Amino acid sequence: MTEFNKYLQKKYRTNKIFFDEYMEEALYSKYGFFNNDKVRSKRSGDFLTSPEVSKYFGKILNQWIQESDLDLNIVEFGSGTGSLIEQINTENKFAVELSSTARVELSKKNIQNVASLEELTFNESDLVFGNEVLDNIPCSVAVFKDNKWYEKVVNLEEEIFSYDFVKARKEIIDWIEINQITGDENIDIEVQINIDKFLENIIHNLNPKTILFFDYGFEQKDRVERKYRSLLRTYKDHHLSVDPILEPGNVDITYDINFSSVKRKLKTLGYESSLLLQRDFLINNGFNEYFDTLQNKLLLSEGIENLKINSYLSGLKALIDSNGLGGFYCLEAKKI
Ligand SMILES: C[S@@+](CC[C@H](N)C(=O)[O-])C[C@H]1O[C@@H](n2cnc3c(N)ncnc32)[C@H](O)[C@@H]1O
Repeated sequence: MTEFNKYLQKKYRTNKIFFDEYMEEALYSKYGFFNNDKVRSKRSGDFLTSPEVSKYFGKILNQWIQESDLDLNIVEFGSGTGSLIEQINTENKFAVELSSTARVELSKKNIQNVASLEELTFNESDLVFGNEVLDNIPCSVAVFKDNKWYEKVVNLEEEIFSYDFVKARKEIIDWIEINQITGDENIDIEVQINIDKFLENIIHNLNPKTILFFDYGFEQKDRVERKYRSLLRTYKDHHLSVDPILEPGNVDITYDINFSSVKRKLKTLGYESSLLLQRDFLINNGFNEYFDTLQNKLLLSEGIENLKINSYLSGLKALIDSNGLGGFYCLEAKKI
């Protein structure tokens, strides 16, 4: 029996835990993926995010923040190495980051950081934002069979974990109903109750004027077009990896965000959201100016400088690539 398994059995006093509990532990416990020895969202880590691919992602966000006149207590959630927040030009900024490994890097960069928002000493903010944080907030998994909703649980009895199914908890069924999701035996539902709670907590504690989240995901109306039964997956060394229960602590567990549900939740909390592609957000907010300036510099440059500018340009192109990062969503919500 692995240490992780013993830890789970002791903590939960049962042989079966819900998938969201499993995901929470496999990512954030002392055996978890984000609390290991290296920060995962950087070049030498397991996946590359927009701010890691190009510093211009942060520069464009910074420009948007300044043009939108947002200044008071700018808070980023899930900052990773800090590659995004470091581009934001204000002293009045804070990183909330669960991973202690990542917090060490943030402190090295002199970015004020805390492990949870309860540690922040203010209760007003102009902007709360995050890149690829929602997809790491543990989800539950609901499955529809013979006209009934079941829920995935992880069986801890054996050395190698396996799945089982139990009758779905009431809160799971309520979430599915509120989000007007109809049962389909060929589609698993990643139930985002923990994202709802995350948003409630942010709004309750920080009362932000504006909220901005970038992530991969979909709108409910488009879910049927996705060919996969499940939108849960794992990453390791920049590649798709094994089933989430096979290598806990060793792989990132993530899923596509149902943005229709996020919008609905924000509405109930008094926020009006708009959803656009990351590509469009960047193009609407100064992408072309940065691109043209670099193109012009490239023509005049030589040697190492030329290589450097070329690499900036390819980073910029990657940010708006419709088949990659450009196809991510940007959700902007404003207090009504
Ligand atoms: C995929 S990484 C993204 C890092 C960074 N934003 C970037 O774009 O490179 C997700 C990060 O969110 C953090 N995280 C997840 N849930 C969180 C929460 N509830 N509060 C703060 N940080 C969280 C994880 O520890 C991890 O560092």
